[in-house]
Formats: sequence, C-alpha cells, structure tokens
Amino acid sequence: MGGVRLTGREALALLPYARRDALAFYAELLARHGDTVSMPVAPRTKFHVLSRPEHVAHVLVGNQANYLKARTYRPLTEVVGNGLLTSEGEHWARQRRLVQPMFSRRHVVSFGGDMASAATRAVDTWADDARIEAATTMSALALDVVGRALFGADLTGDAAGVAPTMDLLMDRMIRVTSNPLFWITPNYHEWRTPNRRKADAAKARLDAIVDRMIADRKRRGSGDGDGDGDLLDMLLAARDAESGTAMSEQQVRDELMTFMVAGHETTANTLVWTFSLLSTHPEARRRLESEVDSVLAGRVPDADDADKLEWTNAVVSEALRLYPPAWTLEREAIADDEVDGVRIRAGSMVATPPWLVHRHPEHWTNPEGFDPERFLPEAARGRHKFAYLPFGGGRRQCVGSGFAMLEAVLILAVITQRYRLDLAPGVRPRPDPMITLRPRGKVPMTVRAR
Ligand code: HEM
Repeated sequence: MGGVRLTGREALALLPYARRDALAFYAELLARHGDTVSMPVAPRTKFHVLSRPEHVAHVLVGNQANYLKARTYRPLTEVVGNGLLTSEGEHWARQRRLVQPMFSRRHVVSFGGDMASAATRAVDTWADDARIEAATTMSALALDVVGRALFGADLTGDAAGVAPTMDLLMDRMIRVTSNPLFWITPNYHEWRTPNRRKADAAKARLDAIVDRMIADRKRRGSGDGDGDGDLLDMLLAARDAESGTAMSEQQVRDELMTFMVAGHETTANTLVWTFSLLSTHPEARRRLESEVDSVLAGRVPDADDADKLEWTNAVVSEALRLYPPAWTLEREAIADDEVDGVRIRAGSMVATPPWLVHRHPEHWTNPEGFDPERFLPEAARGRHKFAYLPFGGGRRQCVGSGFAMLEAVLILAVITQRYRLDLAPGVRPRPDPMITLRPRGKVPMTVRAR
C-alpha cells in the first residue's frame, strides 16, 4: 500500500480529532491513505506514522543507531529521571549491561514464587459475588509483585496512593505533548505552569516511597538473605569498571523509580484487558479454566508450570496484541533516512505504533477479533518477526518482558483456579491512549467463585 503527506493546514484541521481519539485517528488515516502517513507538527519537523512490520524492522533494528527516543519522552523524565527507559548513549548502555543479568531467564524464574504468592494474597481477600474495580486491583497486585521481587519491599500500603498519582502524572504528560507550544519550544515541559506544580507534588509522593526503600535497605543490609541479592542490592553495589566509583544516589533513585513505574503500570493494564476480554469470550475462558485445572490440579503454580500453560500464555499474548500497553513507540532521526519511499529528515519524528502494526490486515486475519489460537506454536510459525511487538524491538526493547509474561501468566492462572471475573452489566472498557493504553474510566467486575 502507498502513503500520504498531509499539508500543515490538513494536519491542523485534524488535530482536534487526533487529540480526542488518537487510536481511531491513526487507524482511519492509515485505512484511507496507506501504510505511511507524514504530517507536519512544527516548522521543518514532520511526524511520520509507519505501520508495517518491515518499517519496524528498519527503525527499531536495521538502522536503530539513527533513531533516539523522541522528544515526546521528555516529560517522562520528570518522573523517572535519567533511568533506563529514558537515558541514551554510553550511560544507557552501561546501565542496561548492569541490570540485564537480573532479567535473565534463570533469574526471572526465581521471582515466580513472589508472583504467585502476591496473586494468592489478593484472591484470599475476595469472596463470591464481590465487586472489584479491576484497574485499581490489578495495579495494586502488580505493584506488590515488583516491590517484593525487585526491591524486597512491601508496597501494599502504598498502592492506594500510587494509583491516583500515576493517573495525575500521565494526564500531565499528555497535556504537555498535546500543547502546540511543546512542539516549538524545546524546554516547554520545564515551564513552571500550575499543571507542572501539581505534577511535582505528585512526583514527590513517589519519591518518598523510593527514598524509604533505599533508606530501609541501607539500614537492614542486603535484600533477601539468599545471597543472590535483588535489583536494589545490585544498584547499590554496582561499581564503574574503570573508575571503581559507585552509582550516584540520584542515579539509584532514578533507576528504582523507572522500575517501579515501568514494572507495574504496563502489567496491570495487560491484566485488566485480559480479564475484560475473557469476560466477553466465554469459549476462550472455558478452555483457560480447563487448562489451568488439568495442569495445576489445585497446586499454586510456579515458573515451570507457566511453560506448560500454553493456552494461558496465548490468551495473554493475544490481549497484548489487541491492547498493547505501549501502544506507540516514537523515535527521532539523527540523520536523514528513507523508509519505504518516505524521506525522513534529520530531526523528524517517527512512530511505529504496535496498535497499528498489530492490526495490519496483510499480517493478521480478522485483526479486531480476539483469537488466542494465533499464539499457539503452530499458528505463530511464518509470521513476520515484527508483526508483533508488545515489548518493542532492537536494543531498547523491554528488559522486563520475560518478567512481565511470567507474572501475567501466573497471576491469570492463580485467579482462574478460584474465580471467574465478569464485567459488570453494560460495562465495555474502551482504550484510552495515555502514556500507556489504559481502559477509560473505571472497570467494575464481579468475582464469582468457581
Ligand atoms: C506487559 C508488560 C510490559 C510491556 C507491554 C512493556 C513494554 C515495553 C516496551 C514496548 C518498551 C520499549 C519502549 C521503547 O522502545 O520506546 C519497554 C521498555 C522497558 N521496560 Fe517494559 N513492558 C512491560 C513490563 C515491564 C516490566 C515488568 C519491567 C520491569 C520489571 C519493565 C521495564 C522496562 C524498562 C526498564 C524499559 C527500558 C529498557 C531500555 O530502554 O533499555 N517493563 N517496555
């Protein structure tokens, strides 16, 4: 399929619509104009939306050295500082090398116990016919997992405060990047607007949690006592290979904040979408229940079980295809480039949104349908490597992907063993493209004992 270049006037006319419903806007532009759409967003700056797996392969892998994280990530640095998600260059490479071993398969498997027991603790508080609000419930559960597994900390008491703080910070980021001033003023996000002051106060609440974790650890000494240490130990003990110096206090805080935020928000969303989809697809849910019952026979699952839960994995993967929490990935070109006939000038922005790639009609039959069969091993064979990228691609791909999949599968299995979650009558969550793809509004669900 071809592509289109919109004029400034056309792009401006579309802006209100783009802001009101970015997902529908993108999908419609591409349905009408082809696989690539280029729009001016500022003088001499274009925003290119690319939707084919081949485009992803070029931008995120083949020519990745030419693409840095886009300016739209800048407001995120107000929250996570110069941590792994937002840093660049040699600094990023060093930090990535440092934390990577913590997320190796061998290590991730050891977190299975924390994941399953967090889920068990949560379901132990439920009763037949109880009402839960799925978004807050899953957010608290995912925060509990990250707290225990990575930081050896009990964050259950913080969950009620973290959820509204995250809402506020995401809202702030969207407001900043959808303001035309952001696109023409490099440091607009630093202006001391009332919105910024509110965000600073919110961020201070998250800082307090991070500071408490560091102070506790310094007071009590090394983490879990099994000699292996956790992410917090690793960050505190890290020494630069050449100079032998420790990470600065600020750097440790930024990394902790990065992992606390990136490590729970996305997984929580995945779980909400998964349970919503299952509630409206009884056939897939019955198959899930029967797999969980037969593989686990009533036991609490561990990481080995997770490998055997083929359908459970497929359900999570399909939820991630339809509702990828990182719904868009954005980069900025360093030098001129060309992708599929589109000229990309240095300084331009490029988006390869998983939301679109995951729905590309040449790569997915019935793209809008919920069909976990696609992720059974035989069906997945032959698919383009980048037709599916919930965790991104190339060197900046998610360091926590194995952790996230294991966590989502174990939590889904533990809950399914005991309960069936149904959306409250009339509730059909719609996606809200904030920084992550969240359900719009509350998601009331009824839990029924099985
Ligand atoms: C279903 C859950 C998750 C999804 C969908 C997800 C998705 C992603 C994506 C797409 C990226 C790349 C962003 C880009 O290229 O612009 C990313 C990066 C990252 N994710 Fe995840 N993530 C998830 C869970 C986690 C978890 C559980 C952790 C930590 C425990 C984590 C930590 C990170 C970090 C630190 C980065 C930055 C990596 C780097 O740039 O080196 N994520 N994630």
